[in-house]
Amino acid sequence: MAETKIWSADELPAAVRAIKRGSLVAFPTETVYGLGADAFNDTAVGKVYAAKGRPSDNPLIVHVSDPEQVDRFAEVNDWAKKLMDAFWPGPLTMILPVKPGTVSTTVTGGLDTVAARMPDNDLTRALIREADAPLVGPSANTSGKPSPTTAQHVYHDLHGKIAGILDDGATKIGVESTVIDLSTDQPAVLRPGKITPGQIEDVLGVAVDSEIRHVDADEAPKAPGMKYRHYAPDKDVYMVAPEDWTQAIIWAQGQLEPVGLMLTNDLIIQHQLAGMDFVWSLGDNGDTAAAKLFAGLRYFDDRKDVRTVLVAAMPSTPENSAYNNRLGKSSGGHWVTELLAD
Ligand code: TXA
Ligand code: MG
Repeated sequence: MAETKIWSADELPAAVRAIKRGSLVAFPTETVYGLGADAFNDTAVGKVYAAKGRPSDNPLIVHVSDPEQVDRFAEVNDWAKKLMDAFWPGPLTMILPVKPGTVSTTVTGGLDTVAARMPDNDLTRALIREADAPLVGPSANTSGKPSPTTAQHVYHDLHGKIAGILDDGATKIGVESTVIDLSTDQPAVLRPGKITPGQIEDVLGVAVDSEIRHVDADEAPKAPGMKYRHYAPDKDVYMVAPEDWTQAIIWAQGQLEPVGLMLTNDLIIQHQLAGMDFVWSLGDNGDTAAAKLFAGLRYFDDRKDVRTVLVAAMPSTPENSAYNNRLGKSSGGHWVTELLAD
């Protein structure tokens, strides 16, 4: 395939034409970059799985430019209407009953539900509106790798495999949307994100099931994506609790190779690590850490001299649960205390 283009906002018509002819276009959102194809063009949707190397039983989110577009493929119930009013455009994906004969099983992975989301990005909503096509959009990374938060991350993973990337700079939130299942008796969060279960309960006035289920590979999963290894660089990643940093840094400094450290600015200052090239700042708090997590993992992934990366876990609050969830997956659940015990 021809070279992958990086398009700026004024080149939007080129991206619109690419979608209309059934090609793949990566698009910016407030969370991470998505890999777009016309949700009603099955051949185009099939190319998404191939480009990402994604298992085809893992269904895709359909991105819309306006709430009314969801009627074209899903049953919009009262809960969904309330949540659309409260949070769209924004980082909330809703699982709804699919309307038979609309989007295909290539989109839904054969489920009788479909995921819908209206992203908070003007350029991407213009793309959807002008192509007159809701877009499927998994994160635009190679399957299993950290999600892309810049156009350059997308290019790194997918150049030569997609027509182009609509570039709108670094994404604001940095971790993927909250996924809420509204297709059963009780709303259930299937993937934590910026919008918390408490915020959803406040709008719906009903209890939300927020216990994220960890599924084994041979179980039928509720959020199919949960069963695959995710967000994983080719490095050994360990989580570090706040009280373990002093010991963790002593351990790191005793190694022959540089150990990557991803931590907040207060810790960088406290341990006099400012300016060190094996240090990646997560900024000042849980929100900035979420925005910088995947970029940091990718930075160390490309560093040939680094084999081990230590990353700060955030205090476990509802607001930090998306960050801690993604970090937990990147690290395979490993804590630095395993190294200190040796
Ligand atoms: O923030 C986001 O949601 C980003 C941006 C690009 O919008 N997209 C994203 O898509 O993260 P993806 O495909 O990487 O993750 C979608 C998740 C997967 O875990 C998938 O299994 C789940 O949503 N999902 C999709 N359709 C579903 C359905 N009908 N029932 C249950 N889970 C579903
Ligand atoms: Mg993904």
